[in-house]
Amino acid sequence: MSSRGPAFHVKQTPCYYTRLSRTLAIANQKGGVGKTTTAINLAASLAANDFRVLVIDADPQGNATTGLGVAKDPDRPSLYHVLLGDANPQDALVRTDFEGLDLISADKNLVGANLELVDIQDREFRLRSRTESVRSAYPFVLIDCPPALDLLTLNAMMAADSVLVPIQCEFFALEGISELMDTIDRIRESFSHPLEVEGILLTMYDDRTNLTRQVAADLREFFGGQVFQTIIPRSIRLAEAPSFGKPILAYDPRSRGAESYIRLAKEILDNEHHGKARRHAGQSS
Ligand SMILES: Nc1ncnc2c1ncn2[C@@H]1O[C@H](COP(=O)(O)OP(=O)(O)O)[C@@H](O)[C@H]1O
Ligand SMILES: [Mg+2]
Repeated sequence: MSSRGPAFHVKQTPCYYTRLSRTLAIANQKGGVGKTTTAINLAASLAANDFRVLVIDADPQGNATTGLGVAKDPDRPSLYHVLLGDANPQDALVRTDFEGLDLISADKNLVGANLELVDIQDREFRLRSRTESVRSAYPFVLIDCPPALDLLTLNAMMAADSVLVPIQCEFFALEGISELMDTIDRIRESFSHPLEVEGILLTMYDDRTNLTRQVAADLREFFGGQVFQTIIPRSIRLAEAPSFGKPILAYDPRSRGAESYIRLAKEILDNEHHGKARRHAGQSS
């Protein structure tokens, strides 16, 4: 476990970072690919590197909310009230038990948001405009998207600088991915929004099976340099942590899962630090 060491000790101040505030949408319209697990644990890993992080839970299921140990309370100002009510985003901020990690929660109110947004004139821009004042106070904002290419996901992408796409290493891994990439392209063109692809993250990797190894190799071949070097292993500990309302770094910091998300945070920080050109949708390197 010695490789875990340095990542914990590299303390960076936000000025290490070239942009003051960066918003990442974590999206894939498939469910169960590791979006929420990545939102929670990447957020905690960035916070452990001394960056303040805001997680915005944009999935009506509210799994990121629960997974961060925050009870779903329909009466507390949540993302729904910020988007479609008159709640001040500041009042919707919730401190989590993990230092440096704050949340705008989701609850069942958000279920109706897609329908309610349809009739609104700036329907794709709501999340962006209504959360701007709080997002700008955080070096990193991670938006956990629902498993659909719906208006909530579109809102998340319009608010985001880049999209991080978790893909589960399984047989149907590529299913729907071209649709997702087309959506990113369309946003770039239709709204002149310079949305980048932060990277494709291989999740639930199990090196004991030939199938996962083969799928991972195929994905690397297909997407080239867009795929993160870091791979998230299949890990029981990662699956257990949310039921304790904790990121893996708080639940089992020595686990392989924790180590992998620390490595992912470092890879994202390194890419930014070295000015690595952000990869655009459709490009393979
Ligand atoms: N690396 C992993 N290893 C084992 N289980 C995982 C891993 N990542 C996610 N899971 C589990 O898989 C399920 C789906 O993950 P989740 O992050 O909720 O996906 P999504 O948000 O894309 O629907 C959850 O039960 C979660 O705990
Ligand atoms: Mg989810």
